[in-house]
Amino acid sequence: MKTYLVTGGAGFIGSNFILYMLDRYSDIRIINLDALTYAGNLENLKSVEKDPRHIFVQMNICDREGVRGLFEKYDIDYVVNFAAESHVDRSIANPEIFVETNVLGTVNMLNCAKQAWLKDGAWAQGKKYLQISTDEVYGSLGETGYFTEQTPLCPHSPYSASKASADMFVMAYHDTYGMPVNITRCSNNYGPFQFPEKLIPLMINNARNKKSLPVYGDGMNIRDWLYVEDHCKAIDMVLCGGKPGEVYNVGGHNERPNIFIVKTIIAQLHDKVDAGIDESLITHVADRLGHDRRYGIDPEKIRRDLGWYPETMFEDGIVKTIDWYLANGDWMENVTSGSYLEYYKEMYAGK
Ligand code: NAD
Ligand code: DAU
Repeated sequence: MKTYLVTGGAGFIGSNFILYMLDRYSDIRIINLDALTYAGNLENLKSVEKDPRHIFVQMNICDREGVRGLFEKYDIDYVVNFAAESHVDRSIANPEIFVETNVLGTVNMLNCAKQAWLKDGAWAQGKKYLQISTDEVYGSLGETGYFTEQTPLCPHSPYSASKASADMFVMAYHDTYGMPVNITRCSNNYGPFQFPEKLIPLMINNARNKKSLPVYGDGMNIRDWLYVEDHCKAIDMVLCGGKPGEVYNVGGHNERPNIFIVKTIIAQLHDKVDAGIDESLITHVADRLGHDRRYGIDPEKIRRDLGWYPETMFEDGIVKTIDWYLANGDWMENVTSGSYLEYYKEMYAGK
């Protein structure tokens, strides 16, 4: 039985990953370490709250003694480090917390894993540390070309600078100590359980409430969208088959300008919710500072080496996603109000 230490497992991708793994494998155990910041929501994991294979621990990844204690208590095989401050706009407003969590937290996770796994100069067998990184570390593309794993790191926002810094520490632990690590760099994810500060859930939530839809700048910035379950599949494959020390880019060749995404959401909600929802809700607002123009991932390496490919076409994934948010209005109300927190703290106390 493999034991996974998943950090940030109450967030968007982390919770989707836990659900994906528990559904796929019966013989695993997942320790879910999450500080439950504004972005962490145990309601995402309601369907596994009584599953003994899922053990939730409320903890900060910067907590040295706490994380060390988890490695002593459980024989951890894999660390999957999702925990991060993840929103670019927040990093522009308050960079320091991004350094604390994304950089210092990652270094703490690396240190604790090294202490547990490196004994008398030899690494224990079958262990791996996987850092969940982002395509934003590569910076911004012009009209042509793609990010490959060889593209130099050139982050622009405080968020991407903190993620690039963390990646460098991860590689430093591999190069210096021989630590078995991988890094995945994924493009923009979409799907259920994403906090409604990010483009897609924000636009769905505003549109369903007939609130204005704030499009930064000219709306022609391009992101490369990947359905979250396809990302989860990639993470599983990298954990099982990734060669230690390697970086894998993950993306689905699904580049869309932001305005296209917003208009797609409007069209769906116009038909499904209220004919009064239309493009007059779009409001062009001041651009994000340092706004990266285009991201585009070349996923050839993970396809060639591990056989990964995305299964969800954007046209299907976006409809599934919109339908999910429309069917889960309570979830949206709860995450924006935070009222779920007290209930879940009680529920998990002592587990
Ligand atoms: P998220 O903001 O939805 O979730 C982050 C989770 O980490 C939350 O549950 C939060 O409570 C937890 N957390 C934050 N600070 C913590 C700390 N100090 N200690 C412990 N837990 C803490 O983020 P997400 O969108 O799920 O992203 C997960 C990871 O994937 C991040 O590392 C992000 O950089 C990366 N990533 C995200 C995307 C995307 O499109 N969302 C794409 C590529 C990479
Ligand atoms: O590329 C991967 C990254 O994708 C992840 O590493 C980040 O954690 C994740 O937050 C995401 O970053 P983005 O900045 O690309 O995502 P966001 O949803 O914030 O914005 C997507 C695009 O939409 C971006 O060009 C900014 C624009 N935007 C965003 C918001 C919130 C708007 O035009 N209006 C908005 O209100």
